Amino acid sequence: MIQFVLETDRELFEEALRFAQHQVRKLIDEHPDFYPMYTQDGRWKHDGPMSNWADGFLPGVMWLFHTRTKDPYWMDQAVRYSTPLEHRKQNGEAHDLGFLFLPTYYRWHQVTRDPKLKDVLIQAGRTEARRFHEKGQYLQSSASENLISIDIMMNVVIILYAARESGDRRLRDVALRHCLTTRRFLIRGDGSAAHEGIFDLETGEFLRQSTQQGYRGDSCWSRGLAWALYGFSASYEYRHDPRFLETAEACADYFITHSSGDGIPPWDFNAPPENRQLPDTSAAAVAAAGLLRLCRLLHDPVKGHFYWSTAVQILRTLCEKYLAKKDKKWEGILKGGVYHLHKELGVDESVIWGEYFFVEALEQALPQL
Ligand code: GLY
Repeated sequence: MIQFVLETDRELFEEALRFAQHQVRKLIDEHPDFYPMYTQDGRWKHDGPMSNWADGFLPGVMWLFHTRTKDPYWMDQAVRYSTPLEHRKQNGEAHDLGFLFLPTYYRWHQVTRDPKLKDVLIQAGRTEARRFHEKGQYLQSSASENLISIDIMMNVVIILYAARESGDRRLRDVALRHCLTTRRFLIRGDGSAAHEGIFDLETGEFLRQSTQQGYRGDSCWSRGLAWALYGFSASYEYRHDPRFLETAEACADYFITHSSGDGIPPWDFNAPPENRQLPDTSAAAVAAAGLLRLCRLLHDPVKGHFYWSTAVQILRTLCEKYLAKKDKKWEGILKGGVYHLHKELGVDESVIWGEYFFVEALEQALPQL
């Protein structure tokens, strides 16, 4: 597949990466050792309710900066912010161990190849796998035992990693079965995705699709779809099951055909007229990063190139319309993210996973210089 970045895109993306580093340095200086989640009026530190599922993304951004610049400052900061997460490899209460450890310990291990870091990742994968519900054949959401959530497609990847590195077939089997259950009950025939699904705990029977952050159980919350696009692509990298690739492509095609021409989706593809215009740039960033993974996996170069150029278009729009550069008081990198509309948390703000996947996608799109 021919991949190219126009000279103007290269300048735009490099400038965005410089700005991203500037913002993160400022955050480290002003709020040392603070793990942000979403901004309020552009400020990371506030009294709004926080949860800790997203704590891996800030150190993950630092690892990405280090990979690109090789600046020891970023390595020092990345280690400093990653290390306090280690004990969470044993946390069986959360379904988010992929979100925590793939941006941090996985990237750290890529840099140093220290086997102790791999042990942390394998343990995190084993802990995540303990959430498997045999009757329903799914990894249980942290929100409730009877729930499957589309976000877990991002977290199942840590189990696939642990399975590959440890050779443990049970881990591989759990991950495979979770992916197939998600595909069967949360991905619809048109490639759209439900946010969550409810099971009968006693019988394991699937009851219905549901949501917490999307508009309705039968709607398509755009970030959920982006998690599915990325998660099925990443799962296919570990296990070449053609069903994973087909699903990732179906999600990608729905995402692309239902977003506006500039590539940015509404917060929910079926949102009601009163907030239909509200975008979620974090969904766009996750989708761009997912498309850049997916395009490398395809045998069809025309389709691969289409996904590549769509990802570049999304990044171009994010850089031109949503970079917080002109607003000197804004502490985040990207404006226009949405955390939780119904709870009015982080709406039209910066969100830390949006920052991470934006930087990841920029670094994937720019050819290594
Ligand atoms: N709970 C993950 C998300 O907000 O996307």
